[in-house]
Amino acid sequence: MKSAPFFAFLLFLAAFPAFSSAQNPAPIRYVEGRKIFFLEAGTVSYVFGINEQGQLQHIYWGGRVSRDADFPAAQSSADWSSFDLGSTITPQEYPGWGGGLYVEPCLKVTYSDGNRDLVLHYAEHHIDGNSLTVTLKDMERSLFVQLRYTVYPQSGIIRRESVIENRTDQPLVVENAQSAALYVPRGDGYRLRYLSGRWAGEWQLNQEPVHTGVKILESRRGSTSHQTNPWFALDRDGNSDSEHGPVWFGALGWSGSWRMSIEETPHQQVRVTGGFNPFDFGYSLAPGEKLETPAFYAGYTDQGIGEASRILHQFERTEILPNGSGLRTRPVLYNSWEATEFNVDEPGQRALAEKAASVGVERFVMDDGWFGRRNNDRAGLGDWYVNPKKFPNGLGPLIARVHQLGMDFGLWVEPEMVNPDSDLYRKHPDWAMHFEGRPRSEARHQLLLNLARNDVRDYVFNWLDELVTKNDIAFLKWDYNRNWSEPGWPEVPVDQQKKIYVRYTQNLYDILDRLRKKHPKLEIESCSGGGGRIDLGILRRVEQAWTSDNTEAFDRLTIQQGFTYPYTPHIMMAWVTDVPNLNGRSVPLQYRFLVAMQGSLAIGANLTKWQQEDFTLAKDMVAYYKSIRETVQNGSLYRLTPPDDSNFKASQYVSPDQSQSVVFAFLHSQQFARMLPALPLHGLDEKSTYSVTRFDGKERPDATPGAAKLSGAYLMNHGLDLPLKGDYDATSFKLERVTE
Ligand code: GLA
Repeated sequence: MKSAPFFAFLLFLAAFPAFSSAQNPAPIRYVEGRKIFFLEAGTVSYVFGINEQGQLQHIYWGGRVSRDADFPAAQSSADWSSFDLGSTITPQEYPGWGGGLYVEPCLKVTYSDGNRDLVLHYAEHHIDGNSLTVTLKDMERSLFVQLRYTVYPQSGIIRRESVIENRTDQPLVVENAQSAALYVPRGDGYRLRYLSGRWAGEWQLNQEPVHTGVKILESRRGSTSHQTNPWFALDRDGNSDSEHGPVWFGALGWSGSWRMSIEETPHQQVRVTGGFNPFDFGYSLAPGEKLETPAFYAGYTDQGIGEASRILHQFERTEILPNGSGLRTRPVLYNSWEATEFNVDEPGQRALAEKAASVGVERFVMDDGWFGRRNNDRAGLGDWYVNPKKFPNGLGPLIARVHQLGMDFGLWVEPEMVNPDSDLYRKHPDWAMHFEGRPRSEARHQLLLNLARNDVRDYVFNWLDELVTKNDIAFLKWDYNRNWSEPGWPEVPVDQQKKIYVRYTQNLYDILDRLRKKHPKLEIESCSGGGGRIDLGILRRVEQAWTSDNTEAFDRLTIQQGFTYPYTPHIMMAWVTDVPNLNGRSVPLQYRFLVAMQGSLAIGANLTKWQQEDFTLAKDMVAYYKSIRETVQNGSLYRLTPPDDSNFKASQYVSPDQSQSVVFAFLHSQQFARMLPALPLHGLDEKSTYSVTRFDGKERPDATPGAAKLSGAYLMNHGLDLPLKGDYDATSFKLERVTE
């Protein structure tokens, strides 16, 4: 029953609509008189308008300003001189290349008559709840662009993409198609953060001042790449620390060649474009044909890079990752790769599965080597039948044993690749990406299947579907172990061949989407020789990602910290493996477990070589992880130490209701018997009291605080005293809210 005062309130709202809209304004508004669009999402405002020339002009992106009247109508910039016309200075939301534009354009085309001028003007718009479509049209020809804006009220993130449509009666070629141009407030002194790396060394954070000129972040490799990840963050004055100050950030949802430009114009305007990589690009559009760009997600916070990451993490968990039935907790996983490499067979895998189950593993994954004549990396890719010598009775008996042990079963696949030494390649040499009559560069002895071809796409879907239908497989580790070379597609007309850059990725997504739809319980990991294909496009279609082939725990601290700038620890797969590992380094098992617990914990060691004490420790560690994993996977992450401190690293995770928190701390080497300073925490309820228990599998009779109760205020202002000593020491604290 609703009360009488409630109805009175409704009547009041009906009588004073201005009151209700001021209290809760629509997330997207258009003010006709001044031709301004207001997008409000969370604590963020994004404002642009139609200027007197009909161009779509950026006005503001930053902290929320809800008073529409504060913003004047868009007014194009005057010419600065005969060398800088107003058209290049005006911050256009989506500038075409034409009319004297020298900044990075969003769109560049060549018409069939050789005309290359493109000047986009506002045509119409449509608002539908949280989404807005603004249609632009060339000033004269029937080339249309739909700019889509979607606001996500929870996170303040705005998603942009564009659809380019040729409504002329002649074909044209799109040479550059970006998703959006983004503008931060005009001025000098910005700092750019981005991630770069290489195989076994992904996720290195770069921080550098932005100066006049263009910085290009890109992959020309056909996929997202280890080289640079499609994410950026900009802050002001170089002094925004991890938890304070304004940060503008963005990430692309595209798993093919991509590019972002971070440009400071001679007029102190920092602007970012992001979309398809224009290198070797040329997408021909027949009359009536359309091209849709990748999604470009943009966010803002005034609470530092730490909050920028947390916004993205939460956004990924709620809006990006497949979560139809709610985000599923990541199970503790075992993977056979580092233990057996290609030498998999039924007895060997059974033995590993039994040992894995004994320490609490929940998912057993058999990696490479189970199919075709795959005894090393020289042969077999493409021949996806179970190797009869290694598994004389198929996969059934191994899967049954894994189930009997209380685990589910996962399998490694690399569907986009083919070894020249395979039945598939001998039958279909034309299915491999190539230029006619040119050598095909092999990498790891393999070639890429041209997934842009629909027959190849369907072949790949069909064998995967059959594999998952015939076997009780809960999980696929989907690998992709090389980048493109000779990206030819000679079977289609010349003017269609460069479509490979778009069609390949679209068909990859299509296979994943169809597979998921047909097998809704199937979970998938995106792997590309480690973290070479992680972006907001693939993450719509997979539950988790393989962070890096570098599983050496000390290196992992830096790799994992870098990973968390854009991506949630929920998807960050982290294995405990054997030592000595990369760099010849050996660190204690206790340290290795605590490093891996900062993401989604897995074991990748050769368990047949472990000693009893290793199993005892592992069992305790896995049980501990299970008691904190909801907080690690779905909580708020605070990076407590700066990225460039490799001697001491610490991280903290807080559950959404602040009732649990977990802290991990790692010391590389103690020098001069120096003690570590107290470690102040974040994100707790200052008025609550927390029980503090330390867990690291080591006896520490002299350590403080040991087990204690401490207030949130103490933990955040004074901080935790750390008992770390010597080399490669590590510890963890679990904090739980108690009533006193
Ligand atoms: C890639 C993956 C590894 C492993 C091997 C198997 O390198 O990143 O984890 O699966 O392939 O060949």
